[in-house]
Amino acid sequence: MSVIRSLATGCGAYLPARVLTNQDLEQSLKTSDSWITQRTGIRQRHIAADGELTSDLGCRAAEAALDMAGLKAAEVDLLVCATSTPDETFPATATRIQSRLGCGPGAAFDVQAVCSGFIYALSVADSMMRTGQFKKCLVIGAETFSRILDWDDRGTCVLFGDGAGALVLEASPGNGDAKDRGVISTHIYSDGSHHDALYVDGGPSSTGTAGHLRMEGREVFRHAVVLMAEAIDAALEANRLTAADVDWLVPHQANSRIISAMGKRLHLPDERVVVTVDRHANTSAASIPLALTEAVGDGRIQKGDLILMEAMGGGFTWGSALLRW
Ligand code: ACO
Repeated sequence: MSVIRSLATGCGAYLPARVLTNQDLEQSLKTSDSWITQRTGIRQRHIAADGELTSDLGCRAAEAALDMAGLKAAEVDLLVCATSTPDETFPATATRIQSRLGCGPGAAFDVQAVCSGFIYALSVADSMMRTGQFKKCLVIGAETFSRILDWDDRGTCVLFGDGAGALVLEASPGNGDAKDRGVISTHIYSDGSHHDALYVDGGPSSTGTAGHLRMEGREVFRHAVVLMAEAIDAALEANRLTAADVDWLVPHQANSRIISAMGKRLHLPDERVVVTVDRHANTSAASIPLALTEAVGDGRIQKGDLILMEAMGGGFTWGSALLRW
């Protein structure tokens, strides 16, 4: 059976120049490098410069992805940007990126699913490509979480960083099985009853301010492993695959302990799990495309490899995606 597949033809990433190390944080907070590294694996994070916006980061990542794909921006007819830190309440950051790059004519909009944002955006974009209405798509995850952190709250501010990653998808014919290259499947879920475990205490309709991130870290940790494991099982079962078929785990980068629990569950050796959390911290919707771009760029991920992505974030939202590179 011939089906439309969203073939990944390029990826790109951008990290702001400024690096904030755990040692830097020791100067302003009652924290320590050893506390942060032991509990999270994070050693440093990148922080956007004053005036450097989410759309700036997204544009840089998208340009790199288009370059790799050998595609002109004007050929892109669908642009989906996953972000929880948009430039403005409206219009969508995606439309800014669209006009800056010169994409279109076509559609551009944001998807907001916090740390699961990239999986959600990929799912939405893939579904729209499969209808045949869109042919060339940019899926971007871009965040400036440094702007919504409470820098006096050591329980949260040490965990996050800024960055962006992008993926080019092009409609291409496939056989409809897991041997096809491109997006094989996506599974997305949410459960709003967990709001209080992870949220931002502001917004245009509530306080009129952007607000700050608030989190019950233990509660999030407890659910993260269970929910992401469910999403992984759903992805494998839907495609009659087993963990042994997976070449690479490219997980959301929140915490090295969560990442290694997921790798162990799949019986994947450490070298098959892509880890960037030590250098990027948690960049929310940007973390998966940042990690993917690193592993493609250094030659670890090769054409034909099966990549499993998973994420969980505020909402709660969670999900998984299978992509054959
Ligand atoms: N430096 C030093 N001490 C700290 C810090 C810090 N940065 N932050 C908290 N502490 C203290 C606390 O005050 C507490 O002290 P107390 O015992 O005197 O009260 C102690 O350390 C233990 O605090 P806990 O919050 O219980 O620490 P825990 O071991 O749970 O680790 C952490 C906290 C790292 C946040 C962990 O719960 C975690 O990783 N949770 C997952 C959260 C996450 O990744 N969220 C990202 C968004 S969702 C996602 O992407 C999956």
